[in-house]
Amino acid sequence: MRTRTLGTTGPQVSALGLGCMGMSALYGEADRAESIATIHAALDAGITLLDTGDFYGMGHNELLIGEALRGASASAREKALTSVKFGALRDPDGGWAGYDGRPAAVKNFAAYSLQRLGVDHIDVYRIARLDENVPVEETVGAIAELVEAGHVRHIGMSEVGADTLRRAAAVAPISDLQIEYSLISRGIEDEILPTAKELGIGITAYGVLSRGLISGHFTRDRQLAANDFRGMSPRFQGENLDRNLDLVEALRKVAEHQGVSVAQIAIAWVMAQGERFGADIVPLVGARRRDRLAEALGALDVTLDARDLAAIEAAVPAGAAAGERYPAAQMAHLDSEH
Ligand SMILES: NC(=O)c1ccc[n+]([C@@H]2O[C@H](COP(=O)([O-])OP(=O)(O)OC[C@H]3O[C@@H](n4cnc5c(N)ncnc54)[C@H](OP(=O)(O)O)[C@@H]3O)[C@@H](O)[C@H]2O)c1
Repeated sequence: MRTRTLGTTGPQVSALGLGCMGMSALYGEADRAESIATIHAALDAGITLLDTGDFYGMGHNELLIGEALRGASASAREKALTSVKFGALRDPDGGWAGYDGRPAAVKNFAAYSLQRLGVDHIDVYRIARLDENVPVEETVGAIAELVEAGHVRHIGMSEVGADTLRRAAAVAPISDLQIEYSLISRGIEDEILPTAKELGIGITAYGVLSRGLISGHFTRDRQLAANDFRGMSPRFQGENLDRNLDLVEALRKVAEHQGVSVAQIAIAWVMAQGERFGADIVPLVGARRRDRLAEALGALDVTLDARDLAAIEAAVPAGAAAGERYPAAQMAHLDSEH
């Protein structure tokens, strides 16, 4: 497995990370045994970076990862790195109740995460969304204290814009910014990506398949569970979905010409942007089944030359997607979009 270093101060990680969110939340039912088998298959394939959030299934995802780590070989467990998001508040009905980045809350969240994961430290710790009521310096300062105490190794950020990134980096070294980036979500290219590069901060890219929309497997007639994020996402609605799936069919032609799958070319495109921008970009793929993971791993063998990249650009030009990447209420929480 190829590796990347996250920014100038972050850990060395596998060139692909595994995002575990869908194993507990937001994409409908997941099979627990298959989820654990997928984590084990990822570790066996050399993936070292496991991404989670304490609010994914209200602790469910961390308990799942903890169980998978306990069942993994000692050497896989030793190499595994946990990237944990905190700060999103939930209610007993599964609703979302804002964000909390106060220093005392940060330490409280961390105490519970360490326990649920069954680890003695978290490798990268970050607030999921900026808490607008707490200066970012205070939130990052609290994580820096957790680093000092040995409970956390590195500080990350999530979905923040360039100004916030600068303020955070002035407090303590930031290893990576976790942010959505894909063929149809290129908003970071103008300002956020250059700023991260300038500050020596890596990118862990999520939604590289736009939550399955550009995976090549999503169909117009797919039935979604009531709590599936995609049932509310603008890109998955009506005419937007039709338009976006037309883009996927154009991409499929390019992928077929290359002898690879749509998901593989979409993941390989994100990795290729790391070279284009001279930045450390590590895609977090949201596979929750072993077959999907195997497909995603195949992207590591895809090399895209200038002609391939031009063909991809012609199929899915920048800004071609229909619909925002989040519903309006959630867009409002994205510091990266302000
Ligand atoms: N920082 C943040 O704000 C934030 C936000 C969201 C996610 N994340 C992190 O990023 C990770 C990845 O995000 P994501 O799940 O939205 O990304 P994604 O990789 O774009 O989408 C994952 C979905 O794509 C579908 N899929 C189809 N073929 C696949 C393949 N070969 N490999 C993987 N998935 C395939 C699967 O849906 P089906 O199984 O339904 O087919 C899967 O649930 C999450 O697990 C989470 O850790 C971070």
